[in-house]
Parts: sequence; structure tokens; C-alpha cells
Amino acid sequence: MRIIDLRSDTVTRPSAEMRRVMAEAEVGDDVFGDDPTVNALQAYAAELFGKQAGLFFPSGTMSNQAALAAHTRRGDEIFLHEQAHILLYEQGGAAVHSQLQTRCFASDDGMLDPDAMGPFVHTDEDPHHAPTRVVTLENTHNRCGGRVLDQRRVLAVRAFCNRHDLLLHLDGARVCNAAVASGLPPAEIAAPFDSVSVCLSKGLGAPVGSVLVGSADFIRRAARARKLLGGGMRQAGIIAAGGLYALRHNVARLADDHRRCRVLAERIARAPGLAVDLRAVETNMVFADTRPSGLGATEVAKLLAAHGVLCLDEGPHTVRFVTHLDVDDRDAERAANIVASALASHA
Ligand SMILES: Cc1ncc(COP(=O)(O)O)c(C=O)c1O
Repeated sequence: MRIIDLRSDTVTRPSAEMRRVMAEAEVGDDVFGDDPTVNALQAYAAELFGKQAGLFFPSGTMSNQAALAAHTRRGDEIFLHEQAHILLYEQGGAAVHSQLQTRCFASDDGMLDPDAMGPFVHTDEDPHHAPTRVVTLENTHNRCGGRVLDQRRVLAVRAFCNRHDLLLHLDGARVCNAAVASGLPPAEIAAPFDSVSVCLSKGLGAPVGSVLVGSADFIRRAARARKLLGGGMRQAGIIAAGGLYALRHNVARLADDHRRCRVLAERIARAPGLAVDLRAVETNMVFADTRPSGLGATEVAKLLAAHGVLCLDEGPHTVRFVTHLDVDDRDAERAANIVASALASHA
């Protein structure tokens, strides 16, 4: 049985051409700044996102954490969404590495509301409070269904940060999906942010890596944080070459993932036993509520796995399906049929 793996866009395998480029990459010792391929990737990413400089990381988690470390001092507070990756899936790294306090805000679409945040901003004048230093957003927003943040509202958050002298960081693990879905150039999406972390190993299909972009001074401090976290790499050009290839060749094709995801979502929404909010399907993710089937998310994931479709249980009653580079039109169609028939046979 051929398995269709829709758990995440991190499961892609490098293509033959990407592997060739990686094998042939020119390399050097990147801790000395000597790796020409890493330097080329960093320069390319900085240019693409309209920032002064870039820095290559082994993971999006380390990139986010180094950004926070570079932006803050011990005891500062950061604002973020209650479903943010930085909050839920980085082992409390903001507290562990940078000794930061987190304040969370809720919304259905992953956006933060300046009016809701306003009353909680603190400066360091009153000794009772942790001074607020950074606001972080996530685009697309993973746990909110791969939603694309509304750029006008992002600009409103930027204006809020300016009023209160706060920094704005973007966890842009899937920022290229946001660019393709919204039609906005990556640099325009990145413009309101002081720093943007971009994953190369998600929908873009590279095997490893993320790039952090921002001002030259910020990147110098982030490079110190990266070394402290153990992220100084040597002949990293081999993996950077895959990332550079991904940024050059795999951005526009994300539209295919989005189209296939839409097909999948519409079919799953009609399947017995799963409820899907189609308005929330904007990029390459579908979240489905398993309650109509009478099954929990883990049971649905097991049932579908037995039929050759892998999805992720994201909570007691939520399963997630993600389209990516290794899922073509036929796979998406086949997966939709399997989901519908597996749930129908269960009902
Ligand atoms: C929104 C978001 N941010 C950050 C990350 C972290 O990336 P990595 O797995 O490379 O550490 C992920 C990973 O899935 C993610 O979805």
C-alpha cells in the first residue's frame, strides 16, 4: 500500500536536483564566516525579504529563540498568541534560554489586537512589572489552520509597537505560503517586522534549515545567540545549498499545494463524520473536527493510517491534513476518497 503522508509539510524529501546541488555545493567553515554557499543563502534571503542581513539556522525553533534572545534582556515580557508555536512547541524556550515572561492573547485567526494588548504594556518605570519588549506574530498561523494574517491588521500592530517602543518579530515558518496565498511580495509581508524567521524545511522542501532576517546589527547579536545555543555550524553549505535551491525554485509552486488542499478540504467537508470550516482553509492545511464521527482524533488518525493516509491528531477532536511538495493532484484526490470511504465504512 502506498502511504500518502499528510501529517506535515516537513515530511518532504529532497528532489534529485536538490540533492545534486547540495552534493556539489562549495563549502567552508561557517563559524569563521567562510562558507560561500551559506553566505549566498543569507544574502539571497535578506534581499528577498527586504532586510539588511540574514543568518542560517539548523531549525526554526533555534531561529525564533535566537531572535528573542537578541531582542530582549532577562526579565522582559513578550506578547504572543495563545496558540503560537513559540509558546506551545518550543519547550518554553523563551523562559529557558532568555528568562522571558510570556503574555498570551486569544483570537480565532491568529491575529493580535492592539486594543486587547494595550492595557498590558508595561515600561520599566514601575518596579512591579516585567517591561514589555517584543510582540511576536506567526504567518501563516499553524494552529489556527494555516491562516494568512491580514496585512492591514499587521500594520496596525506595527503602529502599536511604534507607539509603545516595542519590537515586532515574525515566526514566518510558512511566510512564503502567506506571500503566495495573498499575492503580496515577501518583502512587503516582512516590512513591518524587525525580524523574520523563515523555514526552508516546510513547504519549500529543503531537508534542513531556517533563515533569520533583520538589520545588520540585530543579525550580529543573533549570531552570538546562535553560537550560545550550539548552532554554529561548519561546512553547512551542503545543507544551505538545499535551502537556497528551495527559495529559488519552490516558492511559486506553493500555489499547487494550496489548490490541492482546497480540493481535499472540500471533499473532507462532505465526508461523513468530519466537520471542516472551509473559510479557515487558506493555504496548505485542513483542520477537521472528528466529533460528528463519534471518534476521537487519535482513533480517526489510526483508522486513516490503516487505509494508507497519515494525518496528525492535533487535540482531542482535531485532525490536521497538510499538502506539500510530495503530494500531487492524484494523491490529493486519492487521499480525499480514502478519507470519505474510511469514515463512511466506520459510520
Ligand atoms: C509555525 C512554526 N514555527 C516554528 C517551527 C519550528 O521549526 P523547526 O521544526 O525547524 O524547529 C514550526 C515547525 O513546525 C512551525 O510550524
